[in-house]
Amino acid sequence: MSTDTDLALSIRDLTMRYGTATILEKISVDLPAGQVLGLLGPSGCGKTTLLRLISGLLTPNEGAIEIAGQSVANGASGFSLPPEKRGLGMVFQDYALWPHMSVAANVAFPLEMKRVPPAERKARVLRALDRVGLSAMADRRPSDLSGGQQQRVAIARAIVAEPPLVLFDEPLSNLDRELRETMVEEIADLVADLKLSAVYVTHDHAEALTLSSKIAVMRSGQIEQLAAPDELVMAPETAAVAEFLRLGCLLPVNRSAHGWEVRGTQVNLQNTQLDADTAQVLLPERGLLLDGSGPHQLKAEVMRVQTRSTGHALTVRVCGTDHEIRLVSPVRVAPGELMELSYATESLRWFPGTA
Ligand SMILES: Nc1ncnc2c1ncn2[C@@H]1O[C@H](COP(=O)(O)OP(=O)(O)OP(=O)(O)O)[C@@H](O)[C@H]1O
Ligand SMILES: [Mg+2]
Repeated sequence: MSTDTDLALSIRDLTMRYGTATILEKISVDLPAGQVLGLLGPSGCGKTTLLRLISGLLTPNEGAIEIAGQSVANGASGFSLPPEKRGLGMVFQDYALWPHMSVAANVAFPLEMKRVPPAERKARVLRALDRVGLSAMADRRPSDLSGGQQQRVAIARAIVAEPPLVLFDEPLSNLDRELRETMVEEIADLVADLKLSAVYVTHDHAEALTLSSKIAVMRSGQIEQLAAPDELVMAPETAAVAEFLRLGCLLPVNRSAHGWEVRGTQVNLQNTQLDADTAQVLLPERGLLLDGSGPHQLKAEVMRVQTRSTGHALTVRVCGTDHEIRLVSPVRVAPGELMELSYATESLRWFPGTA
């Protein structure tokens, strides 16, 4: 039987205000131990604020937080356990390493705070540095390392004391794209090997999809959808989620005599289930049939072509609209050419209402 202690983190109805501005409103989410919760959302939606509430740097106005079954904050009573007593590992965008201390001393710091004896400390620091591939750099200063190496030091420091929860706040956003892709996989492996529980904040959907067991897509201080990555991709609940995850092209449609007319075209799509006058329909990138075998045919003009190792990456515009969709074509086409976009009915997603 599962109990609350199987949860690394439990957040109930958390509300945070600054003056009259509500920054987070009634956030509730549970994180089972050994899993990663991704917090994904645009700038200003409240991701860092939520992380600061979990770490204890902020106290909520309402709601409660438990870490590994222990209450750490309660808005009703005003209780808030200070950050150092929560014992969490943290990794930030700007590494936050101490420049005057060696790499080993930086990583050892959480163990010193816990008064781990020196011999054991040394062994655990070396083990943590080894995990991130930096055992040869123990005696260097952080300033003598590359950005990626510095972030690995910060990760070693965050995991060395085996915390009940590790918080990542956009840890890779200062690194270039290629390094980001490598490091996101390294972090995913590390988290899985060590069975870490983590909250990972990012505004990069690819990072969130790679790392997370579940993703909370946030918008204006609320959770828009909480789901596993494949569920988010296959069944986004709102147009905003589909748009933020860049799942494809969202076309406005109006009810017509022949079904649902795609605004600006004479194309009619069919949906007898939807009870609304206007809607948006998502043409997902992954639902596109390049052999033209689907029942829905939309004319599109090729706008841009880029050669990639996987084929020709096209950006096409649905004719009569200013909506674009990206796709990978095995055959070469030129800008200005017209093509037919074809979709299987079941791959379309419908959202009632206007944008
Ligand atoms: N101390 C503060 N006083 C007033 N408003 C604040 C304060 N800190 C943050 N905010 C506001 O709270 C909102 C959420 O900020 P937060 O830093 O949590 O966003 P974020 O999702 O982390 O964004 P980003 O992706 O840019 O890091 C923003 O509108 C911000 O201006
Ligand atoms: Mg932030």
